[in-house]
Amino acid sequence: MATRQGAGSRPPRYLFGDSDVAAHRLHVLSEVFADSSRRFLRAATPDRLGLAVDVGCGPGYTTRLVADVLRPLRTVGIDRSEAFITEARRAGAGDNGVSYLVHDAAAVPFPVGPADLIYARFVATHLRDPAATIRSWATQLVPGGLLLLDEVDSISTTNRVLSRYLTILTALLGHQGNSLYVGPTLSNIAGPGLLRSKIDTVRRLRVPDRRAATMFRLNLETWRDHPFVADTYGADAIRRLADELETEAGAAGAASTTEWGMRQIAFERL
Ligand SMILES: C[S@@+](CC[C@H](N)C(=O)[O-])C[C@H]1O[C@@H](n2cnc3c(N)ncnc32)[C@H](O)[C@@H]1O
Repeated sequence: MATRQGAGSRPPRYLFGDSDVAAHRLHVLSEVFADSSRRFLRAATPDRLGLAVDVGCGPGYTTRLVADVLRPLRTVGIDRSEAFITEARRAGAGDNGVSYLVHDAAAVPFPVGPADLIYARFVATHLRDPAATIRSWATQLVPGGLLLLDEVDSISTTNRVLSRYLTILTALLGHQGNSLYVGPTLSNIAGPGLLRSKIDTVRRLRVPDRRAATMFRLNLETWRDHPFVADTYGADAIRRLADELETEAGAAGAASTTEWGMRQIAFERL
């Protein structure tokens, strides 16, 4: 069957890659954000579902979360990365009706049939045209089906090291035409006659600075050699930042100056 690119011709490379380090970061992230996502899934989804699709599933942490919390008959994780899909399958395809497919989320139709629910977490930041692509996902839902978005709205911190990391990452994503804080742009994407907003809220989440530093340190490893980073900040400054993040990550205690705002939106397909 012919597929249609939802936005633009060639999707951008996923900036954070699919190395073992990138997968490890997603494991840490899955622990930090599980509770927030679990609450959202429960609040948004009243009925037992037939098919749920987790778009941009990575190594499958969110797919397994959707399956555990909502118990759909089938839950399919799709991701463009073969390495992540292999890792996801290794961690437990078949359990709870879970399966995985390599597929570019910017191309519809998805090769799984109409879904009762589509979920995406930490994905919109990486799309070339989030609004157009996400609208194209709505066409993959049955009427009355739900599209759930769980994306970064804000990150605030008074920690100097974490703050510097965020400044650099924001610039790098901006250089690619993407936004770390994509949440605020997602509220108004419902096209006329296609989607209706059911939930639109920001869930605030305190994260210990050392946990944030652990995630940031792992993520820095995946993009520190990007030419934009080297040219703009210089290798020495990035090396220093890596060392300082390492120190923060190893600090004792659960002190926190850092808060994520997660934009959680549920659209219903008309
Ligand atoms: C930050 S990870 C989030 C993974 C997972 N949703 C989670 O929260 O743990 C973003 C994922 O989106 C995937 N991705 C990015 N662009 C994609 C695209 N166009 N099609 C499919 N997957 C994509 C990446 O490969 C990566 O696995």
